Amino acid sequence: NVPFMLIGQGSNILFKQDYPGLVIELNIKGREVVTSTEAYADVRAMCGENWHELVRYSLGLNLYGLENLSLIPGTVGAAPVQNIGAYGVEVKEALLELQALEIATGKYHIFSNADCKFSYRNSIFKQELRDQYIICSVTFRLSRDAKINLGYPSLKAAFRGTSAAEISPMMVSDVVCNIRSSKLPDPSILGNAGSFFWNPRITIQQFAWLKEKYPAIAAYPENDHVKIAAAWLIEQAGWKGYREGDVGVHQDHALVLVNHGSASGTELVTLSEKIQASVWQKFGIQLHPEVRIV
Ligand code: EPU
Repeated sequence: NVPFMLIGQGSNILFKQDYPGLVIELNIKGREVVTSTEAYADVRAMCGENWHELVRYSLGLNLYGLENLSLIPGTVGAAPVQNIGAYGVEVKEALLELQALEIATGKYHIFSNADCKFSYRNSIFKQELRDQYIICSVTFRLSRDAKINLGYPSLKAAFRGTSAAEISPMMVSDVVCNIRSSKLPDPSILGNAGSFFWNPRITIQQFAWLKEKYPAIAAYPENDHVKIAAAWLIEQAGWKGYREGDVGVHQDHALVLVNHGSASGTELVTLSEKIQASVWQKFGIQLHPEVRIV
């Protein structure tokens, strides 16, 4: 009857106080190729495997699809919970199925990709099944054909001048690592939980109004709405590089809140609320935390 919470490596969590119960770090290791065909192979990895090591392992086997997701902190079991994404790819694109243990019954269930109800930084495990299952292993269907995805602007820019035929998935992985390391602080060196807020979606009408006032606004049209770069909003509101005591906004990326040493979780939340208020005041856009606040 002890309250408990499950974590991977804790890289997307901010604690406001000590947790009044048991924190369980899922550390089960193992990975293997479970199916192999001429076109693809299925790789199953246990929840406690480090995400980036799995990416490099699969590339070492000449299996492709995860390269754009290189160097994301955290574990394999945590990856589907928030449908991790970066550089134009989300984990849902390579995920075949996962096995999870239902806490209430102790029974194992297989969730297909569709069962997981993936969307931007979201899945069924953050919504209706929140805290009800332990993700034990995840199986990825990876291609033997390299399908290079350079759709993301900064990735495309990094390969300018290189012909498509010369680009391998391993090179994409290396470049993604370089881009990430150049602007996102390593959480083992400088405390942070990656992007603190979701990139907000606004209506086309609201976007048209903002674009007139702020022609340089960083925005990406999607179906019937427009995604705005939260980092841009925060930087324009004057927060980039801000520091107050030990809490701050990273000098190289405005979407990353950092703990320079001994700041408390509450101080970080207070800073995040000030940022939300100022972005709301300047742009009329509400930012929502992407980080899990406990
Ligand atoms: N920008 C600024 N100021 C900054 C940083 C960025 O104005 O200080 C603007 C630039 O216009 C830039 C745009 O914001 O082009 C987008 O920046 P970036 O490419 O760094 O991506 P992001 O939208 O800030 C998202 C993910 C990241 C992921 C990157 C790369 C979310 C909430 N965040 O960030 O994920 O690594 O794209 O794909 O979707 C995370 O989830 O923790 C995370 C780091």
